[in-house]
Amino acid sequence: MKKSFALIIGSTLSFSAFAEPHPGKVLHESADCMKCHASKPYDAQKTPTYEKLVKMVGFCNDNLNTGMFEDEVAQLADYLNQEYYKHPKP
Ligand code: HEC
Repeated sequence: MKKSFALIIGSTLSFSAFAEPHPGKVLHESADCMKCHASKPYDAQKTPTYEKLVKMVGFCNDNLNTGMFEDEVAQLADYLNQEYYKHPKP
């Protein structure tokens, strides 16, 4: 019951944010992630949980030295999750 309520709120929120680009999408473009990941598609099998997704975004962020803040990494992970991974959020 509690969980489905959170889901409804979550989808309402992402729906109302639909008019503007997701902040994570903007970060994804400005950090040029597709430079590598166009040929290395994001793979939900390889990164099977939301926690791991956040870690991997952090990993690439550190490697690239983009200097993103933690909340930006979280937004980026949220965007990738919506677009590609579709993992349940913790
Ligand atoms: C210089 C090349 C390069 C760039 C640029 C890059 N990555 Fe990666 N990324 C990798 C490599 C290498 C791996 C790990 C090995 C693999 O997945 O084949 C990886 C793995 C990942 C994974 C987990 C793999 C999967 O399929 O689930 C995610 C998520 C990810 N990167 C996100 C990002 C994000 C977000 C950015 C932009 C901030 C980014 N990467 C930029 C090279 C890159």
